[in-house]
Amino acid sequence: MNKVLFICLGNICRSPMAEAVFRHIVKEKGAEQDFVIDSAGLGDWHVGSVPHKGTRKKLDELAISYQGQRARQVVPEDFAAFDYMIVMDQQNLDDLSRFDYNTEDVIVKKLMDFVIDAKEENIPDPYFTKNFDYTYELVKEGCEQLFHNIMEHNKENTH
Ligand code: 4NP
Repeated sequence: MNKVLFICLGNICRSPMAEAVFRHIVKEKGAEQDFVIDSAGLGDWHVGSVPHKGTRKKLDELAISYQGQRARQVVPEDFAAFDYMIVMDQQNLDDLSRFDYNTEDVIVKKLMDFVIDAKEENIPDPYFTKNFDYTYELVKEGCEQLFHNIMEHNKENTH
């Protein structure tokens, strides 16, 4: 089982988008039974909320489901429950350090770390930029490469 948690600041714009896009990719590849996918935020402002309307609009345009997704905050138990904790930017990475986790237990990386020659190292926050199209472009590329990377990693470990 591959357990993947996407993390951003509010859990209403970028990480819910990544959760939905990654789940869509996994479904297309017929690998649903091999994955647990979730998202969470570092802040608590939007706990219980559906994704931001900009994220919903973009996902609706593409017929990508976000059904049942509600914002929640990162909890210490996530570090044991997930294999991959994938953040959107350097600030998220810095904020996660307050949990004092062990890097041997979980892979904590920025989504753009999986993209070779990525246009950005950090995914801009559309809550402030309002540019949900550009965020989607980066999230899609990141999620495709993350999926590829996990599959290659699994292959290496079974041979
Ligand atoms: P996200 O964007 O981290 O991509 O969900 C944000 C959403 C809300 C806030 C900040 C960022 N906020 O300050 O409420």
